[in-house]
Amino acid sequence: MKYNIALIKGDGIGPEIIDGACEVLEFVGKKYGHSFNFVPYLAGGAAIDATGEPLPEETIKGCLASDSIMLGAVGGPKWDALPGNIRPEKALLGLRSALGVYSNIRPARLFKSLASASPLDKKITSKGFDIVIVRELTGGIYFGVNGRREGKDGLEAYDTECYSVKEIERIGRVAFKQAMGRRKKVTSIDKANVLESSRLWREVMHRLASEYPEVEYEDMLVDNAAMQLIKNPSQFDVIVTSNMFGDILSDEASQLTGSIGMLASSSLGASKRGLYEPIHGSAPDIAGQDKANPIATILSAAMMLRDSLGRKREAKAIEKAVEKTLRAGYRTPDIAGESKTVKVIGTKEMTQRIIENI
Ligand code: IPM
Ligand code: MG
Repeated sequence: MKYNIALIKGDGIGPEIIDGACEVLEFVGKKYGHSFNFVPYLAGGAAIDATGEPLPEETIKGCLASDSIMLGAVGGPKWDALPGNIRPEKALLGLRSALGVYSNIRPARLFKSLASASPLDKKITSKGFDIVIVRELTGGIYFGVNGRREGKDGLEAYDTECYSVKEIERIGRVAFKQAMGRRKKVTSIDKANVLESSRLWREVMHRLASEYPEVEYEDMLVDNAAMQLIKNPSQFDVIVTSNMFGDILSDEASQLTGSIGMLASSSLGASKRGLYEPIHGSAPDIAGQDKANPIATILSAAMMLRDSLGRKREAKAIEKAVEKTLRAGYRTPDIAGESKTVKVIGTKEMTQRIIENI
């Protein structure tokens, strides 16, 4: 098979980590008899510099015409002073919206060999954890009505959280389906003690829960969830939550795995075409220094193989190779921890080590 993959390298460490993932994909392709046609597109700061806008029309068209999309990261201090509607982040939100990828899956699993890099106590990490965060990605407060206006005390600004039954239902179904293929537990996270949008969220989730009697279901308030993730992460199987809560909790969960450099993600909608990206940002402080951890992006490529291209075997081969490389003691600086026995290596060498283990 030949696959057309749209590549958005983006800003900061984006190009380095995407290059790593492409090398891994090419190797897998050779080994299993596929080829990839990588087509680069601009978005984020790189697009602002080249064209004046964060998400050129050509990028959207190219992505829609591809089999799938891989994205590095966007943003950086260079573009921080720009107004909200032409910031690099706008490109990411615009792309998710244009592609209709409402379901963002962020697996947070503790690799045994990385337990010492987790900030959690050994008593907690010894139980391990394997969580899938299902984040609603194209609705809620990141897409709601916003603006500035004159209020009774002068200038004020507002953002609105709004969810329709349809939006809640479709993301809820993704979570229940995920749970059916795993440990059959769904925790829906909201703020229903305060927010009306969360109360509707809860009503819809309860209706869905009754359609999946095999799945153990619970509601959890987001403040409690932030605490429970640290106290007892192994209680979670599938978490389903809104765009903003998912954004925040997935960063928290990633840190528990040792580093935000470990977490992959897929974003899917009605079709097989997905957007695959690490959950971390563009890390401008280490860009171009061969220090970035390529693992989250390489694991995102594995998710793409499985979820968009139907290549389970190839996905598994990459995931196993990552584990093997970590078990052999190779670490990028972010996951090196205090241990004197690990071998600290750069982005390029980590990529090569993983390829050798495929
Ligand atoms: C993420 C990021 C983005 C988000 C930003 C860069 C717009 O934090 O993917 O989690 O908030 O979704
Ligand atoms: Mg985020």
